[in-house]
Amino acid sequence: MSNKVTKIGVLTSGGDAPGMNAAIRAVARTGIYYGLEVYGIMRGYSGMIDDDIFHMSTRSVANIIQRGGTILKTARSKEFREYEGRQKAYENLKKRGIDGLVVIGGDGSFRGAQKFSTEFDIPCIGLPGTIDKDIAGTDFTIGFDTAVNTAVEAIDKIRDTADAHDRLFVVEVMGRDAGYIALHSGLATGAECVLIPETRTNIEDLIQQLTEKEKRKKLVNLVVVAEGDELGGGNEVGRILKERLPNMDIRVSILGHIQRGGSPTCLDRILSSRMGYHAVESLMTGRHNVMVGIIDDKMHYVPLDTAVKEKQSFTSDWLKIIKILAS
Ligand code: F6P
Repeated sequence: MSNKVTKIGVLTSGGDAPGMNAAIRAVARTGIYYGLEVYGIMRGYSGMIDDDIFHMSTRSVANIIQRGGTILKTARSKEFREYEGRQKAYENLKKRGIDGLVVIGGDGSFRGAQKFSTEFDIPCIGLPGTIDKDIAGTDFTIGFDTAVNTAVEAIDKIRDTADAHDRLFVVEVMGRDAGYIALHSGLATGAECVLIPETRTNIEDLIQQLTEKEKRKKLVNLVVVAEGDELGGGNEVGRILKERLPNMDIRVSILGHIQRGGSPTCLDRILSSRMGYHAVESLMTGRHNVMVGIIDDKMHYVPLDTAVKEKQSFTSDWLKIIKILAS
C-alpha cells in the first residue's frame, strides 16, 4: 500500500456511542501494522487544543473491543469552533509531525473536521459514530444497533408491567432530531404507533386508534416517541393523551442515556472494526476528507460535507407496517 501519511491521530468527539472503542482499536492496530505512528487524542478536539495527546502502542487498545464509552473520552469543544482554537490544535499536531486524522463522531464532529482540514491541509477521515443514525452515506452508524437493542430490551420490560396493569405506556427514546431509534425499536417491540420527527403526527388519528384498541380490549398499548418529534417528547405526548383519554391509565417512561451505554453488539463491533481499518487505508492511499460508510455490505466513501448535509432515506412504509402489525 502506498504511504501518504506517516503519523496519524485518532479522536472521538460528540456523544459517545458503543463501538467507538472497537473503532479506536482498529485504527491503532491497522496503523501500527502498516508502520505508522499512531497518537490518541483525548476528549475530542479539546485534547487537540490542550495538547492532551499520547503515543499509542498495540497494547494501548487491549481489552477494549467489548467496552462501551470511549477510552479517549469525548467532548463537544466550543473553542474548536473558533479559528484560534483550530490553529492551536494544528500547532500541537504539527510539532509531533501528525499528518493525518481519524475523527470518530457525528455530524458536528464532521463539520469541525471538514473546516480544519480545509484550513490547515491535514487530511481527515470521518467514521460515523452516533447512536442517532442521522448521517448519509452508510446503512448503519457505530452505536446505533446497540442503542436500539438497549431500547428494545427496556421496552419489552415496560410491556410486562403495562400488561399487568392494563396501562398505556408512552416511551420516549433518543435520536435528537432523527427518528431511527424510535422506528426500529417501535417495530421490534410491536408498538401501537411510533411518533417521529420525519413525519407529521395526526393527533386525532392517534386518539381514534388508541380508543378503538381499548374497545377491542387490546392487551398492551405502547406508543414509542422520538425525543425530537414535532408534537414534543414523551412528557408532552403523555400530557396530551392523558387530557384527551381521561379514562385510560397512562404512564410515561423516558429511556434517556441508558441508550448510549453498554457493551457494543456484534454488528457494532464488526462495523467499527471494518470502518477503522478502512479509515487508515484511506489515509495511506491519499483519500482525503471523506467519511467511511458501509452500504449493502460494501465500503462506501462520501465527502464529509455531503455526509452531514444529506439525511438517510426514510422508509415511510415502516409506519404502515407498524400499524398493520399492531392491529
Ligand atoms: O447524539 C447522540 C445523543 O445521545 C442524542 O440522541 C441526544 O439527543 C443527545 O446525544 C444527548 O446529548 P447529551 O448527552 O449532551 O445530553
